[in-house]
Amino acid sequence: MSNIMEAKVLSVHHWTDKLFSFTTTRDPSFRYQSGQFAMIGLMVDGKPLMRAYSMVSPHYEEFLEFLSIKVQEGPLTSRLQHIQVGDTILVGRKASGTLLTQNLLPGRRLYLMGTGTGLAPFMSIVQDPEVYEQYEKIILVHGCREVKELAYQQRIGVELPANEFFGDVVTDKLVYYPTVTREDFRNQGRITDLIRSNELFERLHLPPLNMEEDRVMLCGSPAMLKETQGLLEERGLTEGNMSRPGHYVIERAFVEK
Ligand code: A2P
Repeated sequence: MSNIMEAKVLSVHHWTDKLFSFTTTRDPSFRYQSGQFAMIGLMVDGKPLMRAYSMVSPHYEEFLEFLSIKVQEGPLTSRLQHIQVGDTILVGRKASGTLLTQNLLPGRRLYLMGTGTGLAPFMSIVQDPEVYEQYEKIILVHGCREVKELAYQQRIGVELPANEFFGDVVTDKLVYYPTVTREDFRNQGRITDLIRSNELFERLHLPPLNMEEDRVMLCGSPAMLKETQGLLEERGLTEGNMSRPGHYVIERAFVEK
């Protein structure tokens, strides 16, 4: 059995000239946990060209959804950005990744902090009712340069709280804090600066980030991860992984595709 499956494109949405998302069919044998990623790609010159993409869709969804940047010289995304409904893409059979609540010690609040397409794994997590059972609050912080890059605002802010099965829990527990750095918006500033100054916690009327109560998942560029990780470590939080749970876990946003 090949370790690569085919999937048909069901829909494509272009958010900006640099950001798009799409849904595909899902092979029933493909299993994953919310927060994980898979290798996806296209056949190029007779060979599969694959890159890591976090699933936006929650684990129980019948289709798959992905969020991608468009890089004009990118080997994959220069092509992937042109996919149309009905096209075939490739999906690796094995999902993996560390953004799992089982890699975290029990806590009261779960912070999901992502920049750019680093939002993707958190979309599957905030659409997963099982995650809500483990925390009093889930705080989704998404940082972008411009407002139009704040993908899925409608789904997070309107559709999820209205979900017929778990909308009540979302309304009670999910806090969404989108922030932009290069234009006017109701929330501004880099995630790192918002943590450092405590502005994030003050604005949300939550206690300052602390290792006793708070758990964090990070997904962003290498620079964002390094800087944010430093701030967490200063506050006593330690990194968790598959063999030992900790106070926070990280995943790279898989940029430069
Ligand atoms: P900024 O506009 O100040 O660079 P990018 O599109 O470059 O990946 O950036 C996405 C978001 O992440 C932007 O808001 C950007 O802010 C922010 N960002 C870039 N580098 C860092 C970093 N080291 N720490 C925190 N946020 C960052």
